[in-house]
Amino acid sequence: MNISVFGLGYVGAVTSACLAEQGHHIIGVDLQAAKVEAFGRGQSPIIEPEVDQLLKQATDGGRLDATLDVHRAVTETDVSIVCVGTPSLPSGRLNLDYVQKVTTQIVQAIRDTQKPHILLYRSTMLPGSTRSLVASMLTDLVESGQVRVYYCPEFLREGTAVKDFRDPSLVVIGTQDGAAPADAAVCELMGGKPSILAWEGAEMIKYSCNYFHALKVGFANEIGRLCKHLGEDGTRVMDVLCADTRLNISRYYMKPGNPFGGSCLPKDVSALKSFARQENLSLPLLENTAATNAAHQDLFVSLIEGTGKRRIGFLGLAFKADTDDLRGSPMVAAAETLIGRGYELRIYDPHINLSRLIGANEQQIQSRMPHLAQLLKQDVTEVLGSSDVIVVSQKCVSLESLRELARPDHLVIDVNGWRELDSLPWQYEGICW
Ligand SMILES: NC(=O)c1ccc[n+]([C@@H]2O[C@H](COP(=O)([O-])OP(=O)(O)OC[C@H]3O[C@@H](n4cnc5c(N)ncnc54)[C@H](O)[C@@H]3O)[C@@H](O)[C@H]2O)c1
Repeated sequence: MNISVFGLGYVGAVTSACLAEQGHHIIGVDLQAAKVEAFGRGQSPIIEPEVDQLLKQATDGGRLDATLDVHRAVTETDVSIVCVGTPSLPSGRLNLDYVQKVTTQIVQAIRDTQKPHILLYRSTMLPGSTRSLVASMLTDLVESGQVRVYYCPEFLREGTAVKDFRDPSLVVIGTQDGAAPADAAVCELMGGKPSILAWEGAEMIKYSCNYFHALKVGFANEIGRLCKHLGEDGTRVMDVLCADTRLNISRYYMKPGNPFGGSCLPKDVSALKSFARQENLSLPLLENTAATNAAHQDLFVSLIEGTGKRRIGFLGLAFKADTDDLRGSPMVAAAETLIGRGYELRIYDPHINLSRLIGANEQQIQSRMPHLAQLLKQDVTEVLGSSDVIVVSQKCVSLESLRELARPDHLVIDVNGWRELDSLPWQYEGICW
């Protein structure tokens, strides 16, 4: 294919070098004349293994050119890939000026040529950016089908960028409506097995990945600081932590939904935080872990309150499914708040049988929810029959039973990620979806 690459920095240079290696003809475009001139000679604008060599091969093979002239680049190519910078403003906010400017120029050239064109953004942009660029500059071109716009985030790491391009850790293609790309060429250019989402989802994935990576580094370093303070080897501790690929380095605990609870996580996070404070250690992630959970719990309660209904039914009360442990249960905390605010509450949880509760569980109920006995119902029919809002935190009732009890005026709030609930004849809302 004939492809123009806008922005010859790290991403643009690597993209150009690797696509040229695959046999495509590349025209690199940048604002900086010296960069364009050197690039045209096959000289890499960045220090990155293999890029120099690939660019040289491409120039020798007549597959690489560079220009300052946007019009020429667009006219001579079928695809434009936007890799310009999206730096931070002094306030920390994202600066989209370069993307906006380059889009204006590309769109003008497309209008002049009147040829079909694929516009593919690789620059990192906040969710909503692609749609607002399209809305402000290209709606008619997109509606007429002359231009198709994709957002394909880049995940390369400097230092191993060429390897990452050839064998990407993740391939994401954002389309206007989340449907498969109309252009098979886009999948070929991106390689791998792409996940396809709407523009906003693809934009969000890039930020989620980088936020997660930053969080991982921050977490490892906090454990490292704590370990060093205690005379322990932080590397060894993190090595062993990572050896658990079931709970630690895995999908486990990575699903948005319930706040964390139970008898261990809140208690242990709190103990470690108090210890760090006492030892004068600065561990801001640990310091704020309970706060982020509390914010999630608040959102959960405000979602219920936001319905404007007063009769609330809970499916599930224990802190997770298949246990009767109520200690630290977010559902208990939510129930307590709602009761305090005068809501009418009914609860169904087949694992909680008051007569069998003993020890800490019994105390928990007596101290925090003395009216629990009246709220707990043995029959789910009673809960659904007399509630307007149903809060589902566990799959403690079968979908078939719920189908029989669902009413169109029921509002269902799902905190469990039980997406099949959306297929039932009631109004459905997820806590994070
Ligand atoms: N560097 C990385 O490892 C990496 C990885 C993934 C994603 N990203 C994202 O990719 C984007 C590019 O990052 P980068 O590190 O390559 O940036 P960079 O600063 O190295 O390069 C950007 C280039 O764009 C050029 N440019 C600016 N406006 C232009 C215009 N109107 N026309 C043509 N060229 C123009 C600049 O002159 C510069 O050469 C950013 O959004 C970044 O967040 C970067």
